Amino acid sequence: MSRRRQIYEGKAKILYEGPEPGTLIQYFKDDATAFNAQKKGTISGKGVLNNRISEHIFTLLGTIGIPTHFIRRLNMREQLIRQVEIIPIEVVVRNVAAGTLSKRLGIEEGTQLPRTIIEYYYKDDALGDPLIADEHIACFGWASQEEMNDIADMAVRVNDFMCGMFAAIGIRLVDFKLEFGRIWENDYARVILADEISPDGCRLWDMTTNEKLDKDRFRRDLGGEAEAYQEVARRLGLLPEGEANMVLDLDQHRAKRGK
Ligand code: TMP
Repeated sequence: MSRRRQIYEGKAKILYEGPEPGTLIQYFKDDATAFNAQKKGTISGKGVLNNRISEHIFTLLGTIGIPTHFIRRLNMREQLIRQVEIIPIEVVVRNVAAGTLSKRLGIEEGTQLPRTIIEYYYKDDALGDPLIADEHIACFGWASQEEMNDIADMAVRVNDFMCGMFAAIGIRLVDFKLEFGRIWENDYARVILADEISPDGCRLWDMTTNEKLDKDRFRRDLGGEAEAYQEVARRLGLLPEGEANMVLDLDQHRAKRGK
């Protein structure tokens, strides 16, 4: 791993040069941050679970015609992806009021929204990822109008698909964040889904108990974050019954051997 050229290190992932031009290796860390990295910690085994969960969701999205950066999973913590030019916008889709929407507008957490809301945030840690309007995106040229139309269409399709997928396993998809990137084909740019989809960037509530199965367990000091991520993976059928600990133990064993 150390022999590869590191391209970028983010809060939860590292990007390495890929084996072919136009590819990268995305490595999932156990590090967790919240509130623009003011709170830092680790969630043991998170990287392994997010790698697997994101692989699963991106693969399914591919089958319904959403273009994504995902190529294939390489090992427990790494996946091969297409290199994209990240569009500096975090796209948040909300079905139920929670988090900053509740805080900003005084709407009780858990209130079902009468319609789905798409919000855009400018991806800039120094500014704390501020909420922005379409006007800012157009004014500062972060994405073209055509790209924004494609992004909004894809975000709605991803939401429809994921609401159904999670409902089928007893989970309410409250909200989630997506990132998109540009790939160049000849002289034309195309927008594809990038980054990851995992309990780090989604709010997932158990449909009967309302128990939180996502990073809010870490953000709000609720405890049991590793178990919550495992539960999501288990319900998605990614951890055969009783094997959750085995998979994670194997990863820890490899980490100790320095692999
Ligand atoms: P928020 O309520 O804090 O604005 O978050 C909305 C959703 O977006 C929630 O599912 C968490 C996700 N999210 C990220 O993945 N990264 C971020 O930096 C932020 C602020 C939110």
